[in-house]
Amino acid sequence: MSIVGADAVDAAAASGRLVVAAGDRVTPLARDRAAELGVEIVEDEASSTGTGDSARASVPANAARDSLPRVDLSAHGLLPSPPVPALFRRGAPYPGLRGRATPAPASAGSRSRPTAGGGRVNRVTVVGAGNVGTHAAMRLAETDLVDEVVLVDVVDGLARGVALDLTHAAGLLRFASRIRGESSIEAAGRSEYTIITAGRPRQPGMSRTDLTATNAEIVGALAEAAGRVSPDGVIVVVTNPLDEMTELAWRRSHLPETHVIGMAGLLDSARFQALAALASDGRADTVSGIALGSHGDEMVFPASQARIGSESASARLGDRFPATVDRARDSGAEVVGLLGKGSAFITPGLAAARMVESMIRGDGALLSATVRPHGEYGIDGVYVGLPVRLGRSGLEEIVSLPLDAAEVSALREAAAKIRARVSALPAAVTGG
Ligand code: LAC
Repeated sequence: MSIVGADAVDAAAASGRLVVAAGDRVTPLARDRAAELGVEIVEDEASSTGTGDSARASVPANAARDSLPRVDLSAHGLLPSPPVPALFRRGAPYPGLRGRATPAPASAGSRSRPTAGGGRVNRVTVVGAGNVGTHAAMRLAETDLVDEVVLVDVVDGLARGVALDLTHAAGLLRFASRIRGESSIEAAGRSEYTIITAGRPRQPGMSRTDLTATNAEIVGALAEAAGRVSPDGVIVVVTNPLDEMTELAWRRSHLPETHVIGMAGLLDSARFQALAALASDGRADTVSGIALGSHGDEMVFPASQARIGSESASARLGDRFPATVDRARDSGAEVVGLLGKGSAFITPGLAAARMVESMIRGDGALLSATVRPHGEYGIDGVYVGLPVRLGRSGLEEIVSLPLDAAEVSALREAAAKIRARVSALPAAVTGG
């Protein structure tokens, strides 16, 4: 494998065509340069790796990495496994696309280079180079599915410093992704995925909604920039209060609602998995369960969907089941209290990266995410945590799980509470 840089594109400008070997990595800068100069980049399927014209900037490939066994991430316990797979509906077009701009395919133009049997993308931008952003960027780099991960932060030097530090880990973590730090979304450039983590974290004694006013200003402006710079990209919102900030990001970005998704349910589900494993003295990856509703007091954790191995989690844990659900719901505050400053960052960062990874791979995993339903579970037009499958361009499907009547009703109640909080957002920040 060779790295094909912008200088190779410059050298090929006269012929208008640059032939690269199968498996070569064309840097994002080279692709931008090719688009600018009108140079067509052609993959020579018959070529062997490591050879090329003299203009190509080659770096030694890490030959050992491809021979190493790949880790199956779905076995790592962040994902609730589907409780009743036969009941999931697949492939139906998502009605939320109606009446919104039809997104261009994420592979449009020179920006991305999908490969057969699994994706990879040109660029993911992570806004906020604090702890959550750093962990998300690190995990994304580690998947090696992204040509370039860009960290953005307004604090001078922070994004560049973290990017350099993470670049130094490339040999240890065995990734080829390039990591860049910038101080604006514009400088990061057009990205298939933008993860917004920027904003104030909670401090001890604060609820997530105490952050609304401050973070709405920040998230609104960032979403607007992300929508402008990447009009066919997907935004994953992590900033709290999550449900309200996701709605706000959708409104301000002017992206289709399928392209703006919040990260919360995957984090709350992972917390349940971990805590139920501790309570049952087992492994987290044998626990399944899906946290829905809001990221906060109205989290809905359907007992009907929770298992430890093949057994119902509520039957197995008995009295400890509701206590485990309560602890999962309140885990964010528990970590805030222990840290004394700032909020949880490892699992939130990993969960955001996992959502992007699911979209890039198109693995069809069942996840919980904050999305905008159109009648599913009797809820319409408000962001709320639901079971979904994600695809390359964001939300692909809201999955119908066989919830019982009380669970559906709790979900509707959560949606109603979120709707009320969204209506209370000032028109100035929601953009009208
Ligand atoms: C938490 C924050 C990230 O739950 O919402 O820890």
